[in-house]
Amino acid sequence: MKNIIITGGAGFIGSHVVRLFVNKYPNYRIINADFLTYAGNLENLQDIDKAPNYVFEHVDIVDATAVDALFDKYQPEGVIHLAAESHVDRSIKDPLAFLRTNILGTANLLNSFKRIHTDFEGKRFYHISTDEVYGSLGAEGLFEETTAYDPNSPYSASKAGSDHFVRAYGETYGLPYVITNCSNNYGQHQFPEKLIPLFINNIVQEKPLPVYGDGNYTRDWLYVVDHARAIDLVFHNGKNAETYNIGGFNEWTNLNLIKVLCTQMDQKLGRTTGSSEKLITYVKDRPGHDKRYAIDATKIQRELGWEPSVTFEQGLGITIDWYLANQAWLKNVTSGSYQDYYKNMYANS
Ligand code: NAD
Ligand code: TYD
Repeated sequence: MKNIIITGGAGFIGSHVVRLFVNKYPNYRIINADFLTYAGNLENLQDIDKAPNYVFEHVDIVDATAVDALFDKYQPEGVIHLAAESHVDRSIKDPLAFLRTNILGTANLLNSFKRIHTDFEGKRFYHISTDEVYGSLGAEGLFEETTAYDPNSPYSASKAGSDHFVRAYGETYGLPYVITNCSNNYGQHQFPEKLIPLFINNIVQEKPLPVYGDGNYTRDWLYVVDHARAIDLVFHNGKNAETYNIGGFNEWTNLNLIKVLCTQMDQKLGRTTGSSEKLITYVKDRPGHDKRYAIDATKIQRELGWEPSVTFEQGLGITIDWYLANQAWLKNVTSGSYQDYYKNMYANS
């Protein structure tokens, strides 16, 4: 059996990647290494956690000794690294937490991977990163793999730093790696602090929908299962020491996206058309708010044959249905410290 460590496998994207790999590759032992922060939840993996090729390890990637012990135990041929602090607003409140987890945590994994392998043949370290490392676009243009890094938030700076460390280990020590930079994901199991699940949750509860600034910010949105499919392709077929951008060919301003979401929610909840939109409330803008992200995903399309499998309307429909059917999950993850965080976040808006 090949041992593959997936970090952050209890989180949003990680849980979709773990599920896909456990089901598709019975000859791999999938080791989910996760510290179970507020964003990690083993409930996300209930359907596969009894599989014979799945193991969970409770590990803090910031703890170098714990990471060393994990790598000594499993001697992994591959690492797919998703564990991270992932929310821009949190990074504005606590940048050092992002530096620790995203930069130091990544460096610890690289060190352990380098230490256990004298021969890198057939080995691979795959770092999952974000399009936010490229900074902000004007009205025109797309992020390409060659676009210079220009991160603006503590989150994107920490992801850029970790990307640089991965590349540096490749150049300096010959560590085999691949990096992907993906656009905004949405789908089942996303923690309800990010735009789409937060707004679904608020609409259900008829709470205000806090739109930052004028809402004229643009993001490219990708359904999480399509991201997991891309990760599978890149892990197996991506070229060593390359970067691939992943995006949905699907740009929306926040306001237009929110309107589509409100319309679908009105229909699914059987409410009068327009009632969800009335919840829109303009609040103070996010500091350093990036105006526009847009991805040129033609490299992964051309070289690896990847395409998104659903349209935005389909993916959004599946996502809303999941949240409506899983109110208990929402209630669990939004109890306790999340409530205090959320109250503080909008205290001065
Ligand atoms: P998430 O916040 O939902 O999950 C992060 C996971 O990492 C959680 O399970 C958490 O417990 C774990 N984790 C956090 N700190 C840890 C630590 N110190 N040690 C071990 N585990 C720890 O994040 P996500 O949205 O699933 O993002 C996953 C990865 O994909 C991140 O690296 C993120 O930067 C990247 N990414 C996310 C998006 C997006 O839209 N969500 C887009 C592009 C790239
Ligand atoms: P988010 O989901 O936090 O992802 P990211 O900041 O990584 O792109 O936010 C997506 C967009 O939605 C971003 O432009 C900020 C905006 N936004 C709001 O207007 N209100 C909110 O409550 C949140 C969470 C985000």
